Amino acid sequence: MTLLPTLAELNTWRAAQSGPVVFVPTMGALHEGHLQLMRDARQIAGEGGKVIVSIFVNPLQFGPKEDFAKYPRELEADAAKCASVGVDAIFAPEAADMYPPDRSVMVLETKLSTGLCGASRPGHFDGVGTVVLKLFNLVQPHTAVFGKKDYQQLAIIRRVVRDLNVPVQIVGSETVREEDGLAMSSRNRYLAPEQRAQAPAIRRSLLHVRRRWLAGERNAAVLIQAYQTELQTHASLGVVDYIACVDRDTLEPLTEVDSNALLATAVFFDRTRLIDNLELDGTL
Ligand code: PAF
Repeated sequence: MTLLPTLAELNTWRAAQSGPVVFVPTMGALHEGHLQLMRDARQIAGEGGKVIVSIFVNPLQFGPKEDFAKYPRELEADAAKCASVGVDAIFAPEAADMYPPDRSVMVLETKLSTGLCGASRPGHFDGVGTVVLKLFNLVQPHTAVFGKKDYQQLAIIRRVVRDLNVPVQIVGSETVREEDGLAMSSRNRYLAPEQRAQAPAIRRSLLHVRRRWLAGERNAAVLIQAYQTELQTHASLGVVDYIACVDRDTLEPLTEVDSNALLATAVFFDRTRLIDNLELDGTL
């Protein structure tokens, strides 16, 4: 496995590739969820292809009050994890190499990014769209793999690629969970023990809503209330940032919940914000 800390080294590596290149962008602090994205990438790349992972904590996607400074940075441990799942190269640039001090161009997505996490994290998805497009231009992958846990991010990246004719195929991978159902996240480590014990209620409350939906309830307001009640009953330390029932592709709120619906939620445990979602008519 090759470590590529500079743009020049990445360019040399990329120029030497003739087969498919499959890309997994990350911010490091890798957990089993990321490793699953890499395994999926490995499978897509096949024997003749290469898997490249980027590790870059992107300052542009953190708000002024968010956890950029304390976001975990552990390149050595991350590199060992990448090697264990057959990654061929890691691109780990410095912020100064990615962003000239007088930079003045951003990618702005104006529809999908306004609701859900975008409502409570202004500017976040502009930072994500900008860095992902830059990474695509630098890495020039054929395919890129993103997790469905960040469903809104995935939808926005698909839209950026479609609207700007970026020649990269986007693949969404299923969310990986702890045994008790909590979606894996680099932020789970911030949870105090009693918060960690309550956090699986997020998934359980989403599944509770799914059962109501399967039993015939189609009113979004009723389903949303059912989630709130269930979560408050089982996670007294959790504060719901949002719970929404939206169309999976447009992320527009639904009033009648038929097929193609997504339940998406964010819950604060003190300052730690956890997200999760569920495709109501998807497979579990
Ligand atoms: O999902 C993430 O880790 C980040 O948002 C991404 C896609 C690597 C962009 O910085």
